[in-house]
Amino acid sequence: MATTAQPAQDFSVLPELPADVFTAPLKKPAHVGHDWLEPKQTAYTSEDDAIWNDLFARQMDVLPGRAASAFMAGLEKLDLNRGGVPEFGRLSEDLSALTGWSVVPVPMLIPDHVFFWHLANRRFPAGNFIRTRETFDYIQEPDVFHDVFGHVPMLTDPVFADYMQEYGKAGWKAMRYNHLKALGALYWYTVEFGLILEQGKDLRAYGAGVLSGPTEAVYSVEARSPNRIMLNVDRVMRTDYVISDLQPTYFVIESFEDLFRQTVERDFDRLYRSLGPSFTYANTAVIDVDNVYDRGTQEYLLRGGRGSGAKPV
Ligand SMILES: [Fe+2]
Repeated sequence: MATTAQPAQDFSVLPELPADVFTAPLKKPAHVGHDWLEPKQTAYTSEDDAIWNDLFARQMDVLPGRAASAFMAGLEKLDLNRGGVPEFGRLSEDLSALTGWSVVPVPMLIPDHVFFWHLANRRFPAGNFIRTRETFDYIQEPDVFHDVFGHVPMLTDPVFADYMQEYGKAGWKAMRYNHLKALGALYWYTVEFGLILEQGKDLRAYGAGVLSGPTEAVYSVEARSPNRIMLNVDRVMRTDYVISDLQPTYFVIESFEDLFRQTVERDFDRLYRSLGPSFTYANTAVIDVDNVYDRGTQEYLLRGGRGSGAKPV
């Protein structure tokens, strides 16, 4: 994400979007400002807090031995199991003392350029609402459990914390090239669904999309269906992804330093210039440049995937 070709952008205030940059037409609720931040965090009911506690307990049944050590350490450092939805003010104080990050409440999905701007300032926008019992197992939009339980523990890791900030800065460059999809694929296969090979042998998950749900936390590291391929940034940024089912392919890093080196020190200008307007590898593909850790059977997907009753094997 090196910015050698252009002067560093000032992120102290929300930069003006160039006129030719396409952004999704999200309608801003009247009560939030240009930063899309809620004036304060939702006041949760006792049922909301009970839902948080039950989601937390469910994850703790499956995460030990499967979640990255840095994630488990982060949960502990932030004491996220105090009971009920964490209060962002106190959470931010603890997090800020560790890595300078804070957690800020947003009403819903926010525009990419605003999201990137917050990340560039070490602020993590977190959904304000929590799912209901009816949507306990699967939600389309990220809620406070996904955002805080899934993402925030990793922000206690100093290298990963720096990676997230650089990702935010890189977002503005990707927008200028109209290659948000490519950068989005990098986020998807690292921040949301990334795996790490600890000590060169112990496969663990660090992605928030994996760690905030019970099925994929197990499937991602143990199932025989998915491919597991060592991360190559150029390859990942040309790879398609689906948001509505378990992943057919995961990308594996050796360490967070490895992730930082491969991305932050990479000059994305050249990469963006060489990307075709719409070309992507299928998300099931294994190609000849891949360093394959584990080639999957794709059995789950071939049997129909989500909705078919196929077992996530
Ligand atoms: Fe997420």
